[in-house]
Amino acid sequence: MKTRLALFGPPGAGKGTQAYFLSERLGFTHISTGRMLRMAEREDSPLGRMAQAYTASGHLVPDDLMYDLVERALNDCGFDRFVLDGFPRTLAQARWLSAFLAKEGRALHVVIFLDLADEMIIARLSRRRVHKVTGESFHLDARPPVGVDPALIIQRADDRPESVVERLHVYRRSTQAVADYFRERGDLRRVPAAGTFDAVHDRIIRVLYEP
Ligand code: AP5
Repeated sequence: MKTRLALFGPPGAGKGTQAYFLSERLGFTHISTGRMLRMAEREDSPLGRMAQAYTASGHLVPDDLMYDLVERALNDCGFDRFVLDGFPRTLAQARWLSAFLAKEGRALHVVIFLDLADEMIIARLSRRRVHKVTGESFHLDARPPVGVDPALIIQRADDRPESVVERLHVYRRSTQAVADYFRERGDLRRVPAAGTFDAVHDRIIRVLYEP
């Protein structure tokens, strides 16, 4: 089975949700750069203060601020059985990751491109709520936070409509090069992200077991 993965795709495609399922059901370490940044912001750490203006407006945080975070997370999980969520998302990050893993004698097994149409992205993000402490993603209709203290359920600052529009622009501008990079290496697999949570999960599992 493929055990070194990255989930890639537009905001709201379901990367965080599917990475969470992989961690809960298959014991993968879920490495979400967006969640690490939101945590740093909540703690008001120097990284959080630097990142805040970028994340709130929907822009990417500079590449060099991301590398330490990812390096530590990969070290902590022993460079295996991990799912990267939201990293890499620039060509520089993709090249950095390949070089970093190569130094450890490893390589990504697969980059799963979760593909979703814009109108579904908007529908998902406008109804998303997240758990303030764990970062788990819910959807008010499709996956309501049943039994969770409502005081812990919040809307992300960057899910405001103007930030969502900007995130989609940023995604289109900076991520084509990332897709091309992994496609040329033969590592990219497109997985349709429409359908139920379990349907998407099953498609991902099939990719993990492909020869
Ligand atoms: P990040 O947190 O990575 O945001 P993103 O990539 O925009 O992705 P999202 O978290 O919005 O969506 P998702 O695909 O995880 O969808 P989810 O599973 O929640 O990054 C945030 C910011 O941090 C960036 O804008 C940037 O500023 C910065 N950043 C992060 N990484 C960076 C990096 N590497 N470099 C530079 N800057 C970086 O699902 C969305 C909703 O849909 C939920 O409500 C969910 O319940 C629902 N849903 C999911 N699947 C389904 C389904 N099958 N059916 C129905 N509903 C579903």
